[in-house]
Amino acid sequence: MAHRVLGIFAVAALAVSLAASQKTGTSAAPPTFYKHVLPILQDHCQSCHRTGEVAPMPLVTYEQTRPWAGAMAHAAEMKMMPPWFADPRYGHFANDVSLTPQQIATLVTWSKAGAPAGDPHDSPPPKKWAEGWNIAQPDLVVKMPKAIRIPAQGEVEYTYEIVPTHFAEDRWVQMSEFRPGSPAHVHHAVVYIRPPDSQWLRHAPVGEPFTASTLNDPLERREAHETTSDLLLVYAPGSSPDQWPDDMAKFVPAGSDLVFQMHYTTNGAADQDQTSIGLVFAKTPPKQRVITLQLNNHALIIPPGADDFRVEVQGTLPNDATLLSLFPHMHLRGKRFEYDIVHDDGSVEVLLRVNYHFHWQLSYRLAEPRVLKAGTRLRAIAWYDNSKNNPHNPDPEKTVTWGDQTSDEMMVGFFDVAVAAGMDKWKFFVRPGEEKADVQKNSSTHVACGLRPSSVTLEWVHAN
Ligand code: HEC
Repeated sequence: MAHRVLGIFAVAALAVSLAASQKTGTSAAPPTFYKHVLPILQDHCQSCHRTGEVAPMPLVTYEQTRPWAGAMAHAAEMKMMPPWFADPRYGHFANDVSLTPQQIATLVTWSKAGAPAGDPHDSPPPKKWAEGWNIAQPDLVVKMPKAIRIPAQGEVEYTYEIVPTHFAEDRWVQMSEFRPGSPAHVHHAVVYIRPPDSQWLRHAPVGEPFTASTLNDPLERREAHETTSDLLLVYAPGSSPDQWPDDMAKFVPAGSDLVFQMHYTTNGAADQDQTSIGLVFAKTPPKQRVITLQLNNHALIIPPGADDFRVEVQGTLPNDATLLSLFPHMHLRGKRFEYDIVHDDGSVEVLLRVNYHFHWQLSYRLAEPRVLKAGTRLRAIAWYDNSKNNPHNPDPEKTVTWGDQTSDEMMVGFFDVAVAAGMDKWKFFVRPGEEKADVQKNSSTHVACGLRPSSVTLEWVHAN
């Protein structure tokens, strides 16, 4: 309802401005596809809206786009497309695909004018996309060896496949991209790096799909969801590929395995999935290593009916680190998520505030990597809507606690940092002057919904 009212206002305002411009004789001609619309599509839409990508229809040629003119104008005005949920008041992000008010007005005016094609000579050169990949042509494509069958109905247990890399030497991964075999079924996925000395899932089959419940060893069953392994990449619909700045990369030790952890959802149609990832290696060893950390609060208890319930966690960085990106994760009751720096004088600097959207879990890559000194206090705050007004809420009568099903909740602020190349997560948690890592082992059964469960969490002070 609110949407409809908004839409009418926007259209009315536009009609007034059109009338005004016609009177003064400026820009009376409506925008055309080739001159005005296509450049917007190339820069903001085609990463998803082209053949073989996640969006249902390509928006590349005039013929493909024309039938969607009205829907595009509507989606742009409502800020539903392109998917981007950061509050524009805070931070600048390299992967910000959102449209300016002028671009939105162009799409709306174009649609109202009957979606004219214009002159093909006005079109920008077609955007060059690497075949099937949004990163540079991969040096290595790793495909899950066996396709996984997804049923038409019901819940699917997290499914794993372990793939040996056979790397004879250490490798640094500069870019990586996840290509779901069946985009409609991959709810999200994590690819872990299992170094050769790791005992994690050692008795599990290699090169074949399995689920935790099929493992014989009870310890291994439990540990399927927990690991000290670093993660190579995470995928969720709308997430962009990882492209680390020059001189920064993820580290894959020689002889590692990659462990695919897949969360599939069903949609009425059975299918198969055989996912691939593409890797681009750093040409020279980087100066810094990228590791993924998290701010978690496992102790959340969300009362029934609460419509704006706040959960906070904060702590200080054990060592210097360069902050690269942020990836909030909650479930169906998520409403907003914020990352802050709390300065010594008590002032708060907001790094990111997200109007949370369960269907789109995005990572937000800082436009300028941010050097943070050891001792910097980071804070994450999450807000939940457990009221009946939340259309995603499966049960507003329920007290909600931490759990891996989407009807439970999570409070995880993932973030990627660059540290010295010789450092790993464990060394990072050794505070200067101390010998032992200041690390809490994630000994619980907590799984970030399969998303980046990591034994090394920056889970320091619970304020709730
Ligand atoms: C990150 C990927 C992504 C980007 C970028 C993106 N889209 Fe989409 N779009 C999707 C997906 C996936 C769907 C289908 C699911 C949905 O509707 O949420 C969709 C659906 C749509 C729809 C159909 C909505 C309806 O009525 O059902 C329109 C129209 C649309 N997109 C327009 C655009 C335009 C215009 C842009 C650029 C300004 C854009 N999209 C950018 C992924 C994307």
